[in-house]
Amino acid sequence: MEKKKFKEQVETIREAFGYINRFRNETFVIKINSSLITHPSFPILIADLVLLHRMGIRIILVPGAKQRINEILDTYNIGYEFVKGIRITQPEAVPFIKMASFDVSNKVMTLLAENNTNAIIGNWVKARSIGVRNGTDYKFSGIVDSIKTDIIMKILDERMVPIFPNIGWSATGKPYNISSNELAMSISKELNAAKLFFLTDFGGIPADRFKLTPDTVVTGEGIISQLTVEQAGSLIDQNPSQVRGITMELLSLGYNACRGNVRRVHIVDGRAEGMLLKEIFSNRGFGTMIYSNQHENIRKMTYNDIPFVMSIMEDAIDEDILVSRSPDSLKEKLDDFVVYEVDGTIHGCGALHRYPGKTAEVAGSAVDSSYTNLGTGKKILSYLIETATKAKIKKVFVLTTQSSDWFQSIGFKEGKIEDLPAERKKTYNKKRKSRVLIYTISKARRGKIIGSE
Ligand SMILES: CC(C)(COP(=O)(O)OP(=O)(O)OC[C@H]1O[C@@H](n2cnc3c(N)ncnc32)[C@H](O)[C@@H]1OP(=O)(O)O)[C@@H](O)C(=O)NCCC(=O)NCCS
Repeated sequence: MEKKKFKEQVETIREAFGYINRFRNETFVIKINSSLITHPSFPILIADLVLLHRMGIRIILVPGAKQRINEILDTYNIGYEFVKGIRITQPEAVPFIKMASFDVSNKVMTLLAENNTNAIIGNWVKARSIGVRNGTDYKFSGIVDSIKTDIIMKILDERMVPIFPNIGWSATGKPYNISSNELAMSISKELNAAKLFFLTDFGGIPADRFKLTPDTVVTGEGIISQLTVEQAGSLIDQNPSQVRGITMELLSLGYNACRGNVRRVHIVDGRAEGMLLKEIFSNRGFGTMIYSNQHENIRKMTYNDIPFVMSIMEDAIDEDILVSRSPDSLKEKLDDFVVYEVDGTIHGCGALHRYPGKTAEVAGSAVDSSYTNLGTGKKILSYLIETATKAKIKKVFVLTTQSSDWFQSIGFKEGKIEDLPAERKKTYNKKRKSRVLIYTISKARRGKIIGSE
């Protein structure tokens, strides 16, 4: 087998094992779009959820019921309308909405039973009326007041899967129709979930609907790949005209969840077979992920990281893009290197070597092939420039043979060998003929993310 392919397969197995250990006993809240429940691939999706459950992940399911509610209301000739995406729930619709909501929950429970998995449907949500907003009375539509987390914890401890219908009850037992998207977000926050999933029938958030900031990472398929919580916040602020769309609703809920204690929110296509597993067990996601801090993945390199960093650099060294380095030379410069780690696996590296005269060199930047074009390289470089800025360094240079366009796209400018510090001039490899590029850290640039200028 081709060396590169073999290496990739081994990486995938390592990643999967890493994730199994990492997520055991963590809570995942999974909102399932109502249209998925009648999709031909739904039994496979449930089988995948069962796999996660068997691995020791604490799964909570929130099946959406919109489609089923519409069907039942249509069957019984009960009219309905939506205002700003929220259903106005007339009193006569309430028993039918409860019927539809428990019907979808039952369907999910039946499929779990077919997979030998214990599940339970319950009345664990306290709700209150939305009331009248801007002159619209939403009648029996409600919002989540609180979740009976103590009961849910016990159910999860018993290795059962709680299923939440989209109904909440007032203190006096009055039922309210609540949004299952909001419900999933509230549960994930209350239970400090590691992940909140919105399994949709359209995939992640399409980039073409939004005015994006320059540092937003978009996949080849036109999906916003990942957003820090700050980026998600500015996207919401800058796109008010989108406010009623489902993508904006999920973006806002994801933002809200991450501002709580939820570590990551994933918006993925639930129709595509295996998509959920891919999203969890390969750290390159396929939908949109919202997470809390862009630098949380960057940390100093440790001695134990050296073999993995060597492996990431290997291809670029083979192609003569990077200078070959030995484990000992990396060990000597341990403090200069940082690594980009996602869920326990290293995907990128870079170093900042300091020289006298407020000058530093960026070197050894590399990103593994499964993680390129996701903004990883820029994040590492941005981190190194921030480190240089904090150390009051004025000039950062890089010597590069084949990546000058990349550095220039980020703000580096052409320089000369004469611009290098004396010590570095001596070690400049004349045969290699690397280009010199320079990034000047002006006061105005401090604090800015590279690429956003
Ligand atoms: C260069 C490298 C670090 C970029 O990492 P990355 O995480 O893919 O980069 P980002 O996602 O931040 O940026 C991707 C963008 O840079 C472009 N790009 C990547 N490598 C490039 C190169 N060598 N020259 C020009 N543009 C490049 C991509 O096409 C993409 O462009 P787009 O945003 O217009 O689609 C990575 O490709 C790598 O490891 N290359 C081999 C080692 C190397 O060249 N290191 C530099 C040391 S001198």
